[in-house]
Amino acid sequence: MRRKLVAGNWKMNGSLAANTLLLTEIKSGLKGNVSSATCDVAVCVPAPYFAQCQGLLNGAAIALGAQDVSSHEAGAYTGEVSTGMLQEFDCRYVIVGHSERRAYFAESNELIAQKTVRALNAGLTPIVCVGETLAQREAGETDSVVAEQLNVVLAAIAVSDLAKIVVAYEPVWAIGTGKTATPAMAQEVHAMLRKQLQVKNAEAAAQVRILYGGSMKPDNAQELLAMSDIDGGLIGGAALKSADFLAIIQAA
Ligand code: 13P
Repeated sequence: MRRKLVAGNWKMNGSLAANTLLLTEIKSGLKGNVSSATCDVAVCVPAPYFAQCQGLLNGAAIALGAQDVSSHEAGAYTGEVSTGMLQEFDCRYVIVGHSERRAYFAESNELIAQKTVRALNAGLTPIVCVGETLAQREAGETDSVVAEQLNVVLAAIAVSDLAKIVVAYEPVWAIGTGKTATPAMAQEVHAMLRKQLQVKNAEAAAQVRILYGGSMKPDNAQELLAMSDIDGGLIGGAALKSADFLAIIQAA
């Protein structure tokens, strides 16, 4: 049985004051209502807030994560953040290949594969994002696009690392739009991704958590999370509201 994972992706949002309020509310909500024994929770915050959030999360059953990481170890790469820096702040997760990185920062499947390997080598859990655009879905290309995105990553990692990755299926047309894939639509893609993982190693594939992301909200989380291959959520907008984020964790 895979443990569910609910991870918030704050994107480029937050402030010292807002982070304190949000994490304080989430921590007290978790203590009161939700059994953290059945579900892993993480927040992927902007890098300048690692230290602050590490402090706020001290002793809480909420892991810290990053939204991106450099494919390089260290050196003259202005603006980049290394895996070593993430480790210093106890980051456990790092999102790689988010569709916003692919679209706005021209990240290729190959670069994303390198980042995944870099994260694994540092002992971090990469959350590898895949997903098709609306045009690709309408052209019937969902399976081929998503399979290619995952394949390049799978080709780059060792079989022994397969169980250590998390995959996130995030249809681009569902991100921040209020449109959600139906549970059946999402499950279909998740099942295909699981099959692809099985080709590399069946035993590990059964352990890999495949998250759904794209307008997951309290009112649709439960039916999405009930699908057999949906093992959690990668939450954008709803992760910035404590009541919504807590309700999704509750659903998981
Ligand atoms: P929304 O939940 O705001 O649609 O964002 C999803 C996402 O991109 C998470 O990485």
